[in-house]
Amino acid sequence: MNDLHPDLVRVLLTEEEIQTRVVEIAAEIDRDYAGVERIYLVGVLKGAFMFMADLARRLKTAHNVDFMAVSSYGAKGATAGEVRMILDLREPIAGEHVLIVEDIADSGKTLNYLINTLQSRNPASLRTAVFVRKERRSLPVQLDYLGFDIPDVWVVGYGLDFADRRRTLPFVAEMRQV
Ligand code: IMP
Ligand code: MG
Repeated sequence: MNDLHPDLVRVLLTEEEIQTRVVEIAAEIDRDYAGVERIYLVGVLKGAFMFMADLARRLKTAHNVDFMAVSSYGAKGATAGEVRMILDLREPIAGEHVLIVEDIADSGKTLNYLINTLQSRNPASLRTAVFVRKERRSLPVQLDYLGFDIPDVWVVGYGLDFADRRRTLPFVAEMRQV
C-alpha cells in the first residue's frame, strides 16, 4: 500500500479479507446454533467493537448484544489471572447461549478469565469467537470460532490498538517497533 502510515510495517489482513471471513464465521455460527432461540453476544471492549458490529450484522440467528470491559494488570507478559473487570454485563446470563466476541488471543489469559467468570453464571452454553490468534505453541483456552492466525507481532486496526491509536483502521497492520 502506497499510503501506509509510517507507524505501520505492512498490512496483514485487508479489509476485503476481513469482511469475507466475517461472513464465513457468521454462517458457521448460524449453522451451529440452528434451533437456538437466541444467541447472547458478549463483546469485549474496546478491541472487539468492530468485529462485534460486523459479525452481529451478518448473523441470521436472533441475538442480544452486551459488552464487558476488562483490563490486564501490568504490562504485556503479566502472569495468568491478573485480569480485572472494568465493566460488567447489564443482565444475568443464566440459561442464555453466550458467545464471547473477542478481538485477539495472545497469551489467552483475558479469554481464560472471561470464560471462568461467565461460566460461573450458569449460561446454557458458552463459546468464544475470536478475530485473530497470535501464533503460539499452546493456548490454554478453547477458541470455537477463529478469524485468522497471525504472526507474533504487535498489530493494530479493526479494533486493535497501540496506546489507543490506529484502532479504527478498516484493515489489520503490523505496528513498527520503536
Ligand atoms: P491475552 O494475552 O490473550 O490476555 O491478551 C491481552 C490483551 O492484549 C488483548 O485482549 C488485547 O487487548 C491486547 N493485545 C495483545 N496483543 C495485541 C496486539 O498485537 N495488538 C493490540 N492489542 C493486543
Ligand atoms: Mg481485548
